[in-house]
Amino acid sequence: MDKNKISIVILAAGKGSRMKSPKAKVLHTVCGKEMLYHIIKSSREISNDITVVVAHQKDAVVKQMSSYFDDINFVIQDADNFPGTGGAMKNISVKNENVLVLNGDMPLLTADALQGFLGCDNGIIMSIFDLQNPDGYGRVIIENNQVQRIVEQKDASAKELSVTTVNAGIYAFSKNILEKYIPLLSNDNAQKEYYLTDVISMARADGLNISPLLVDEERFKGVNSKKDLSDAEEIMQDRIKTSLMESGVIMQLPSTIYIEEGVTFEGECIVENGCRITGNSKIINSHIKAHSVIEDSIVKNSDIGPLAHLRPACVIEDTHIGNFVEIKKSTLKGVKAGHLSYIGDATVDEGTNIGAGVITCNYDGIKKHETIIGKNVFIGSDSQLVAPLTIEDDVMIAAGTTVTSGRVESGVLAISRTKLRTIKDFYYKFFNK
Ligand code: UD1
Ligand code: CA
Repeated sequence: MDKNKISIVILAAGKGSRMKSPKAKVLHTVCGKEMLYHIIKSSREISNDITVVVAHQKDAVVKQMSSYFDDINFVIQDADNFPGTGGAMKNISVKNENVLVLNGDMPLLTADALQGFLGCDNGIIMSIFDLQNPDGYGRVIIENNQVQRIVEQKDASAKELSVTTVNAGIYAFSKNILEKYIPLLSNDNAQKEYYLTDVISMARADGLNISPLLVDEERFKGVNSKKDLSDAEEIMQDRIKTSLMESGVIMQLPSTIYIEEGVTFEGECIVENGCRITGNSKIINSHIKAHSVIEDSIVKNSDIGPLAHLRPACVIEDTHIGNFVEIKKSTLKGVKAGHLSYIGDATVDEGTNIGAGVITCNYDGIKKHETIIGKNVFIGSDSQLVAPLTIEDDVMIAAGTTVTSGRVESGVLAISRTKLRTIKDFYYKFFNK
């Protein structure tokens, strides 16, 4: 693949008002990453020259994308004077003769899917698909096997609205076609916008060849609303999970599992139903039991859940985490924490057992503090470990103890309990029995 043959322009300047959101449309996420991230990622597989057109919330868009990629050209659209997809193409300068223009709201596109648009020497290739419900898309008017024009929904007559062949929003142009026709666009339409799609009818009127390329909705779906967003997410989830299962991950009821695109698996892993695994989590030779949530964490040779919650920045190795255990920003190696605990900002070493209901009190209302627990420590049920705290190796903490000493030395039993009293016949008196 010669990445120097084609330039790609991604239109990402629009408001996306149909999303009904304060956030720019292209920054809405699908499987954990912004729509624009997905399309740039696919684009970089086939081109070294990528331009992203921004305007609405441009600072946020540029900042977010620059955190992933350092080789993108950003161009600012003069959206006040030249609104619309055609306005977005003004002042674009690209390196190559062939130019692929993509809408930024197509997160499902793959590099593979773009192959068909390469090689449009001296004409235009445009993407079309047939939809039972073409609502929202521009209708493609084809006569004598030639695309004649694209009519936007808001400009369409009743007859044109009934056309089910629509513009998917991807075009391959040769550079000279863009240079010729973009300056000629007008905004004489229902939305008072400069439509990139009008290049098609102008080029056609001049006798140029417009080749329609039939594409599939699975990869070319445009996202305009939050319903579309959730549909796109479902398609991408399916893709992510299918590929993980093909590479060896066992999933029970995969339709109930949510896994973001940055998550990786190694070795033999089982993910039970209802799990959510996000961020750049890495799961290695582990069993994630039903309804557990793992955020941006590493899990190796361990079993987690059911119903456990690993919040970001956990490293869990050779460890058993049971139900209703929440862990945050902690490293546990060779540990058992079977039931109902909160472990935050802690390091716990091997051979240590954390009893039911143990809590690290890591927050004093102002600051977070650390808890360090050594090897072979036995922490009895319902103990509170008030941080900052170090518990050395070989320590027993009695059930129900509140550890406040800052340091517990090796070999001791730490116990804090008030002496049990029993009051004879109290029950019978109280209930009058
Ligand atoms: C566009 C097409 C329509 C096609 C559909 C496919 C036009 C006029 N219409 O319509 O024929 O069926 O895509 O999904 O092109 N954008 C800018 N600057 C703007 C306006 C939009 O950069 O001034 C960007 C948006 O951020 C978005 C993309 O262009 O990523 C498409 O804009 P959108 O408003 O979604 O176009 P549609 O109405 O869907
Ligand atoms: Ca769109």
